[in-house]
Amino acid sequence: MITNETLKVIRQRRSIRSFKEEQIKDEEIQAILEAGMYAPNAGNQAWHFTVIQNKKLLEKLNLAAKQGAQQMDIEHLRALGNDKEFNCLYHAPTLIIVSGDEKAFVPLEADCAAATQNLLLAAESIGVGACWIFFVLLAFNSPLGTELRNELKLPEGYKPYYTAVFGYKDDIVGDVQDRKPNLITYIR
Ligand SMILES: Cc1cc2nc3c(=O)[nH]c(=O)nc-3n(C[C@H](O)[C@H](O)[C@H](O)COP(=O)(O)O)c2cc1C
Repeated sequence: MITNETLKVIRQRRSIRSFKEEQIKDEEIQAILEAGMYAPNAGNQAWHFTVIQNKKLLEKLNLAAKQGAQQMDIEHLRALGNDKEFNCLYHAPTLIIVSGDEKAFVPLEADCAAATQNLLLAAESIGVGACWIFFVLLAFNSPLGTELRNELKLPEGYKPYYTAVFGYKDDIVGDVQDRKPNLITYIR
């Protein structure tokens, strides 16, 4: 079996949901962002990365997302929205939102997803914990949605597609769950 540092990082990476309070270093954020910007993209880099490290704004996003979740048809999301203990950002000190230009000549979902995965892998490679977070996007469906867009200075016409949180791990990472077999077809 071939292995190297890149393959080890890919195998090792797990979603982290418990973080130390300490902020990660600026040079770590720079390395993570650079990896995001080197992702493959079909839209000629029509993406934008918003780094949020302001505690008050992170809490506002958490509360607005939970408010958004309370309006959803999906029972599981409603329950999380109503759970006082639940923090959809897991109290991580850093959140990155990856947005894409809605007027780009190709849909930006794939570009932004590729960038987000690069952020996660770069974080793992330098010992920073991370978790991809869908839930916080519900903040933009809440009554505070427009206010938050302005506060986050999202570029005009850009849609927040994906987000991830980052921080030093305070989780014991268990064994990596085996991936399902039989999900590959070879035609040779
Ligand atoms: C598009 C997407 C959205 C996700 N949203 C959330 C989320 O809102 N909250 C969360 O705790 N994990 C979220 N995750 C993380 C997944 O739960 C996690 O990747 C999955 O359980 C596999 O575990 P692993 O990342 O440790 O391999 C998301 C992952 C993806 C790809």
